[in-house]
Order: sequence, then structure tokens, then C-alpha cells
Amino acid sequence: MPVVEFLASHHDRTNFDCGKESLNRYLREVARQNADRNLGVTHVVVPEKGAATVMGYFTLVTRVIESEVVPEKRLPRGSIGVILLGRLAVSTLYQNQGLGKRMLLRAMAETELVSRRIGIYALVLDALDEQARAWYLGLNFGLMPVADDPNRLYVPVNFIQQLNLGNLTAEL
Ligand SMILES: CC(C)(COP(=O)(O)OP(=O)(O)OC[C@H]1O[C@@H](n2cnc3c(N)ncnc32)[C@H](O)[C@@H]1OP(=O)(O)O)[C@@H](O)C(=O)NCCC(=O)NCCS
Repeated sequence: MPVVEFLASHHDRTNFDCGKESLNRYLREVARQNADRNLGVTHVVVPEKGAATVMGYFTLVTRVIESEVVPEKRLPRGSIGVILLGRLAVSTLYQNQGLGKRMLLRAMAETELVSRRIGIYALVLDALDEQARAWYLGLNFGLMPVADDPNRLYVPVNFIQQLNLGNLTAEL
């Protein structure tokens, strides 16, 4: 059973290949630095606890969006806090096995967890390309485009709560 860990030095970043060079490079060259500077937390999926092989990864950071870009009426004007799923990628060796789907659900569960302590309106992501956008929308996890950018998708925390994703454990 794959497990989720925070990116650490024993994880093999150099051999990770998801088919998109920008996402490979982020893991190889930027993810650790961003974690060290508290700019982004990268969660990696490995086959078992302590393994070096990275099957997939996703990165979570905070952002604000303008409340005007979401249709909900009762929001105050101006900036509202969200979690941004900055990156999500699955190794080509493990694609089409449901891993990406489970990683997205995990990112949603992490967002819900944080939202119990700190005000977070939604999980937001920017689809890398049309293929990624189609994949996200096809999952039917409540993701919708914001008003001013068709590539920016969001799912409100109150929708995530209804999914009853349960408590987070190490297993994915
Ligand atoms: C996109 C990506 C994350 C998907 O991960 P994955 O583990 O291969 O996907 P999953 O196996 O979880 O797919 C789940 C579902 O999506 C469907 N699916 C797969 N590719 C699809 C596509 N291009 N469009 C629509 N649906 C698709 C699958 O059929 C599956 O449906 P099912 O559960 O009903 O059978 C992965 O292919 C990847 O890392 N690609 C390169 C990087 C990238 O584009 N990342 C997105 C950055 S924004």
C-alpha cells in the first residue's frame, strides 16, 4: 500500500519522470528549497514507508483569491484565503492506476484539515494544459473554473466537507 511522506533527502528526485519536464524539474530543483524556506510543502507518494522511489508528488501552498471570481453571494468583498495545489504529478510508471485521483483527494483532505484551524475558503489549482484540465474536471470532485480564468479550478471547503474524506493516515 503506497504511503504519503513529506519530501526528504532520501527520496529519489532525479529519476522521477511524469512526462512533463517543468514538473520533473520542480521536484528535482525547487521543491526542497521551497520546503526549507516554508514556501511550499511537497508530499510524495512512495511504495512503502522509507522507500526512495517517488511514485507521485503534490505541493501545497497558501494564496488569496478575490471573492468576486466565485459565485457565492455571501462572501465579503476583497481577498479570501485558499490553499493552492501548486503541483501534482504521477510518474509515468504508475499513471492510469488511480494514484492521481487519490492524491487529489488527499490534497482536498489536507485542505479540510487546515480549514478547521485557519480560515480557508477553497482548494484552488491551475491546470497545466488542456489535458490536465480535462482530467481534473472529469473526476467530478466538485472542481469548477473561477470566473476570470478557465484554467483556474477551485472546490470550496464546504463541498469537501460533504465528501466525508475521513482522517488522514500515512496510507494513501
Ligand atoms: C494527470 C495525472 C496527474 C493523472 O494521474 P493518474 O494517476 O495517471 O490518473 P488516475 O489513474 O488517477 O486517473 C483517474 C481517472 O481519470 C481518467 N483519465 C485519465 N486520463 C484522463 C484524461 N486525459 N482526461 C480525462 N480523464 C482521464 C481515468 O480513466 C480514470 O478514470 P476512472 O477512475 O473512471 O477509471 C498524471 O497523468 C500526470 O502526472 N500527468 C503529467 C503531469 C500533469 O499533467 N499534471 C497535472 C498538472 S496540473
